[in-house]
Amino acid sequence: MKLRDSLLMNAKLATMQPNRPWAPLPGGAVAVEAGRIAWAGPLAELPDRFASLERQDLGGRLLTPALIDCHSHIIHGGDRAAEFEMRLLGASYEEVARAGGGIVSTVTATRAASQQQLIDAALPRLDAMLAEGVATVEVKSGYGLDLETELTMLRAARALADLRPVRIVTSFLGAHAVPPEYKDRPDAYIDDICIPALRAAHAEGLVDAVDGFCEGIAFDPDQIARVFDVAKALDLPVKLHAEQLSNLGGAKLAASYGALSADHIEYLDEAGVQAMAKAGTTAVILPGAFYALRETQMPPIALLREHNVPMALATDCNPGSSPMVSLLLAMNMGCTLFRMTPQEALAGVTRNAARALGLSDCGTIKAGNRADLAAWNVTDPAELAYRIGFNPLHQRFFGDLK
Ligand code: NIG
Ligand code: FE
Repeated sequence: MKLRDSLLMNAKLATMQPNRPWAPLPGGAVAVEAGRIAWAGPLAELPDRFASLERQDLGGRLLTPALIDCHSHIIHGGDRAAEFEMRLLGASYEEVARAGGGIVSTVTATRAASQQQLIDAALPRLDAMLAEGVATVEVKSGYGLDLETELTMLRAARALADLRPVRIVTSFLGAHAVPPEYKDRPDAYIDDICIPALRAAHAEGLVDAVDGFCEGIAFDPDQIARVFDVAKALDLPVKLHAEQLSNLGGAKLAASYGALSADHIEYLDEAGVQAMAKAGTTAVILPGAFYALRETQMPPIALLREHNVPMALATDCNPGSSPMVSLLLAMNMGCTLFRMTPQEALAGVTRNAARALGLSDCGTIKAGNRADLAAWNVTDPAELAYRIGFNPLHQRFFGDLK
């Protein structure tokens, strides 16, 4: 529900503020004014000026910040079920891509779709996310790979925020793959299409950040750097799909541009971890892609922890490498596959996910933040990561700022 002026009370608050105790205390309250958190704490300490707010009793439930999916490709045409079958028979993700399938096959389907068709296809995916307490979703372009379709994807992404109570953050991902018409001419694609499309999308206010895919089947660090130079000139933050299938030094490159995040990073080495730590770049861990591709190389969680690199978790919802909409499942996979702690998993879909998007007004329960909150039918916050395929959401609150 939308929340404007209200007092949520009788909650166990997991504020997710850094350096605060993990175990939430009962008897918590959150005062909301004009869609933002005005105050949070034990009800017994409620300042008088909030006493007249209309009260909602949460029945002792856990209250967390609403969840944030900081890496998704929910706007896309078609599906890749046939490729799923090919991979089960032994073909690798790279082999499928090199044979003209993979991202490029989704490009064909996306180009064939209208903006309305892209929106209609994305809404059920978005609705599944919202049903799990998500209030902010990052959405990438990158299945158009021509100027018009890249813009259409981003317009479709923006339109989602008018159709549902959700905050959409966009990333321009023109450097996602080389389209068939530029086969073996990646540099020409970057110059002729990707950079002009970025400029056009930015001029239309469609771009919140610039992303790329630095990989043998996509673009090398020099090509990504040329896109990032333009992003920098336009004053747009960058992020990168890096070290997913091999180590090309993408995370280090991204860090040298002060990237918000480096994502996937299964093949990241210690030098890359150090570069991210120095730049304050968040590690976005995507266990759905690891699982779906039957990857065996684990992201360097212990090194990231050791160097205090903040870790986020996301679905990477896309038709190829991660056909997954559940952020709760991503939390479970982060714990079970990578031994992240349940606490890291929850921070990864709240505080650190906000960081990965450069947002400072969500992801924690604190005064001034948007009143994007989630109440859960659980007693211990670790339950959010522990159950599999079960949705314990009681109620999602979306701050009504209008
Ligand atoms: O995040 N790694 C590159 N991009 C997407 C996959 C896109 C696809 O296979 O369609 C990802 O995994
Ligand atoms: Fe991705």
